Amino acid sequence: MKNQKLWGGRFKSSSLSEVDQFNASVEFDQKLWPHDIAGSMAHAKMLAKQKIISQKEAKNIVQGLQTISKKIESGKFSWDLSKEDVHLNIESILTQLIGSAGEKLHTARSRNDQVATDLRLYCREKVKLLLQGLVWLQQAFAETAKKNVETLLPGYTHLQRAQPISLAHHLLAYFEMLQRDFSRLSDSLDRINVLPLGAGALAGTTFPIDRTFVAKELQFHDAAANSLDAVSDRDFVIELLADLSLIMMHLSRFAEEWILWSTHEFGFIQLPEQFCTGSSMMPQKMNPDILELIRGKTGRVYGSLVSLLTIMKGLPLTYNKDMQEDKEPLFDAVETVLASLQILAPMIRQTKFNAENMKKALSAGFVLATDVADYLVTRGIPFRQAHHIVGKMVSYCHKKGIELKELKMDELKKFDQAFEKSIYHWLDEQHAVDRRKSLGGTARSNVNQAVTQAKKIISKNQQLIAKLK
Ligand code: ARG
Repeated sequence: MKNQKLWGGRFKSSSLSEVDQFNASVEFDQKLWPHDIAGSMAHAKMLAKQKIISQKEAKNIVQGLQTISKKIESGKFSWDLSKEDVHLNIESILTQLIGSAGEKLHTARSRNDQVATDLRLYCREKVKLLLQGLVWLQQAFAETAKKNVETLLPGYTHLQRAQPISLAHHLLAYFEMLQRDFSRLSDSLDRINVLPLGAGALAGTTFPIDRTFVAKELQFHDAAANSLDAVSDRDFVIELLADLSLIMMHLSRFAEEWILWSTHEFGFIQLPEQFCTGSSMMPQKMNPDILELIRGKTGRVYGSLVSLLTIMKGLPLTYNKDMQEDKEPLFDAVETVLASLQILAPMIRQTKFNAENMKKALSAGFVLATDVADYLVTRGIPFRQAHHIVGKMVSYCHKKGIELKELKMDELKKFDQAFEKSIYHWLDEQHAVDRRKSLGGTARSNVNQAVTQAKKIISKNQQLIAKLK
């Protein structure tokens, strides 16, 4: 029986359906169709410009591709598994639709440079959406911070109460992380925006193609300089997955904190009901499922990164079919991160902060011990000695079941003569916060500036996104 595959010329027998099934990628790579069509249109225009095909043929191809595009959009296109992948599905329908001009589209092109091009276009489109998602989340953090400059809570190290901080300062820490995520993603566009098309299967082509023209058509900065590299690397996918993993690492830390904060044990926040779920058995439950899922999905995104690193490890140049396995992890990670970014912004905005409980948490745990040591330093005692003295005071208070601020003047004097009434001013949480005026510290004056700065950064980010294709 004659082999019906587009590549079937040298094959005598027809393929086994199990093999078709195993080999095919169309079930998942059909997601690439808008990019595949955009790439094909640019390629056809270039072929005509270079007189490799006629203008009329190019016009037919472009029109045919437009028709296919509409059909796919309306959900009426039926993907054929025996046609293997998105590229061959579209090409074969095009030929059915417009006849022999369709068969010329693949001149000077291979699926190897085609798929690499599609994938770069996909990444570019998604990076733009991811950048937008990051800014939305930054906005939620910045707005919430603005309302909470004077809400105080303990900052933690080792999950032990450490020093008082402003809640806004805490929220803006996440703003900073997201800003680095933003800058990493926007930088990655420099490397994504390089055109593989025209590399052919691996070595270039004998036709007089114009790759610079195609690069311009598809709004890439450049055409890849080496045909072997162009078809065989997926470092841009790995880079994107690494960037996504870092985003999720940040989100998972945030999720974990808010899961803790929402417990009865902490009682710092009340999550909006709509972002929680109940238990099928325990009627009292309101569980922080969304945050737990963010934490869990982080593992899934890391998995994608590790998959791609492992798939690409040790692959000889140039294209190998292993590389078809790049798509599912990439698509899955992109969709997971987009969904995670989108769900968190409204949740943050609707969360209620329990300032009373945060304050209560400040009243135990000796969070002002460093301040007492700093006070002694201002009175001429070397820090190491001051640290030791306050250590003794803490142990004394611990035994007595009191806090540092409850110590009477005569008790204080026993620890050091340098103590005067002014110490009680230092034993106030808001003062302690405001004294931390060092660059990047939690003082109100700093945090107010940081809130203003965050607003500026957000509008700069928005401008950058608006300029992207
Ligand atoms: N479906 C393939 C992939 O995603 C397209 C490239 C196939 N090239 C080939 N020579 N078999 O990698």
